[in-house]
Amino acid sequence: MKLLSIHLQRFRKHESLQLSLEGGANILYGHNGAGKTNVLEAIYFVCLTKSFLGASDADCLRFDAADFEIDAEMQSDAGVQSSVRVYYSASEGKHIFINRSPLDQFSKIVGEYPCVAMSPQDIGLVQGSPQERRKFLDGAISQTNKAYLEDLFNYKRALTQRNKLLAELRLSPRAASELRASLEVWTEQFSLIAASLIARRIRFAEEFATHLKDAYARFSSFEEAPSIDYESDFSLEQGLSKEDILKRFEHKLRSVESEEQRRGQTLLGPHRDDIKFTVDGHSLKKFASQGQQKTFVICLKLAQQFYIRERLGETPIFLLDDVFSELDRDRAKDLISLLKPLGQSVITTTGRKDFDGVNQLNIEALL
Ligand SMILES: Nc1ncnc2c1ncn2[C@@H]1O[C@H](COP(=O)(O)OP(=O)(O)OP(=O)(O)O)[C@@H](O)[C@H]1O
Ligand SMILES: [Mg+2]
Repeated sequence: MKLLSIHLQRFRKHESLQLSLEGGANILYGHNGAGKTNVLEAIYFVCLTKSFLGASDADCLRFDAADFEIDAEMQSDAGVQSSVRVYYSASEGKHIFINRSPLDQFSKIVGEYPCVAMSPQDIGLVQGSPQERRKFLDGAISQTNKAYLEDLFNYKRALTQRNKLLAELRLSPRAASELRASLEVWTEQFSLIAASLIARRIRFAEEFATHLKDAYARFSSFEEAPSIDYESDFSLEQGLSKEDILKRFEHKLRSVESEEQRRGQTLLGPHRDDIKFTVDGHSLKKFASQGQQKTFVICLKLAQQFYIRERLGETPIFLLDDVFSELDRDRAKDLISLLKPLGQSVITTTGRKDFDGVNQLNIEALL
């Protein structure tokens, strides 16, 4: 996938900014606060309908503006062109149009314009909470699997219902029999979707491991083997079928039943699981140096790029925010030579970098 051009209007700092990009590596440079990250945020927005920084739609409105608009021209690897328009206003909410036709469900666009973003914040994937790693998992799988995205929505709904019933059960034991009957129905549905999500995540971790090793071999200068393992509150050895996982999940869920009712909330499920990153069998979070952790994160994102490309047969747009500031010149050069044949990338930095065969864009000249 390639972004040919993009026009931001009243998005973040930009009243109006028009930008054309080339295939291959593009470096977007300019001083601090010039609005480079804002541009990457807008590109991610048209691909995946939201900010990669976790910002709300309203946060992306230019201060005092009533609405924003992003218009992008895209071209698939096969050469098919399409336009994506994102419109948001506080009163009307968000609307997305592909080739001028409105999308009734935003989830339909996910995976159509594959995109991977990386920023210094991603060190949170190693150092931060399990929630950040689950977000990474869900994001990577969703772009390549629409059924997974649907399962995620349904899981959230079942979880909310279950939590509501457990909380009610705790507060009003008198309505217990009615509540218990509803709880049973929701628990059954909840367990089915949970098992399906877990099975898919385990398969992802297995498939992804190969790409991670590949990325590590190509980019890391460390002589060590990276690995990624799915972790849940019950034992999950390799090769389990979805039915096995469901049986184990239901068994474990029954064992925490009274605890759940005492606490009034769901205590088990993919919303509490984690993935563990290790190098040579040692926890990355606990034992690796800063440099090893940063290298691992870059390799994770490269692997995500490889994984999505393989599964979709379409190369994601790769957005790298300020990643060079963390690398010495040789490593930055290595990264650029890795990126050049990997489809289109957009890299922000504060200074112009002299690399061969790279499109350089000065954002200040565009403002
Ligand atoms: N909603 C908004 N409306 C208007 N301006 C905003 C909004 N959100 C952020 N800004 C401004 O945009 C600027 C930040 O832009 P951005 O983060 O893209 O800069 P940058 O070029 O990436 O800078 P750096 O090199 O420091 O990372 C800030 O000056 C900020 O005040
Ligand atoms: Mg920035």
